Amino acid sequence: MENHSQNGTEAPLKVSTLNCIDLSNPDIHQSVSLLKQACLDCGFFYVINHGISQEFMDEVFAQSKNLFHLPLNEKMKLLRNEKHRGYTPVLDELLDPDNQVHGDYKEGYYIGVEVPEDDPDAEKPFYGPNVWPEDGVVPGWRQTMEKFHHEALEVAKAVARVIALALDLDVDFFDKPEMLGKPIATLRLLHYEGQVSDPSKGIYGAGAHSDYGLITLLATDDVMGLQICRDKDAKPQIWEYVAPIKGAFIVNLGDMLERWSNCIFKSTLHRVLGNGQERYSIAYFVEPSHDCLVECLPTCKSEDNPPKFPPIRCATYLSQRYKDTHAELSVYNNHQT
Ligand code: OGA
Ligand code: NI
Repeated sequence: MENHSQNGTEAPLKVSTLNCIDLSNPDIHQSVSLLKQACLDCGFFYVINHGISQEFMDEVFAQSKNLFHLPLNEKMKLLRNEKHRGYTPVLDELLDPDNQVHGDYKEGYYIGVEVPEDDPDAEKPFYGPNVWPEDGVVPGWRQTMEKFHHEALEVAKAVARVIALALDLDVDFFDKPEMLGKPIATLRLLHYEGQVSDPSKGIYGAGAHSDYGLITLLATDDVMGLQICRDKDAKPQIWEYVAPIKGAFIVNLGDMLERWSNCIFKSTLHRVLGNGQERYSIAYFVEPSHDCLVECLPTCKSEDNPPKFPPIRCATYLSQRYKDTHAELSVYNNHQT
């Protein structure tokens, strides 16, 4: 059940107010306190003055459009591989099978950490070479995306330092080699076509889900669409829009951080509703190294509050989550060229 009134008309649009963390603020205590409040409350906040220039963000969005504007047969040549790199067509991903009639009305493009084929690390499930459009198809594309991947990781590390302080850990807790020293970090370009979502019919831009990792940085254009649900167990569920702020990242906590923090910090359910306008967004999913053991933090357990989850290896957890939400690659056999 949704927040619709009895006669079927929409309830007024509710827009969420989120805390805003200014990464250039010299008063770190203030940032920690704002972030902690957001993490305890809804697991979503804005990050501003993060160091990535507006000019460069505009370039990344422009290059994302250039890719999605290619004809479908060109994009299908870049179809994602088993390492989750490359193009994901409309309906490929099904995030909320209980409430969706079919997959999400979005197309996407995954770019991970670039690991050459001859590097022993390329054996690992989320590592390997990326899928890049051939030179000249979208000029300058690879350089733009590699630069963004690199800069976004620095933003993520800066946010993770504030999170560490908010959890009473050492400031560099997430900087260690097994954490974000050798992360699984995935840039995902997203394009929602002008489809109007209809929750009563099970049609969504992106179905309700929480993200899998440590944190996600999200940049969107100015088209409203993202909604969060602060209490997934409420009946009916109440969905609030998150308004885009130019130049800000919307940051949300993922399920691994919820496990790490023994549910003290929340990974919140969110989804995207299409309103008939085309929409572009850019997500940057941040996860620790493959072998990182995600286990209850010492500061988040006590005799009265024992760990709620067993420890789990990062790569094992992630592989399962991707498998649960993406189509089998064999469904695309007819399209492959
Ligand atoms: C996601 C996501 C939101 C958006 O990709 O996990 O929640 O606005 N995206 O595209
Ligand atoms: Ni998400």
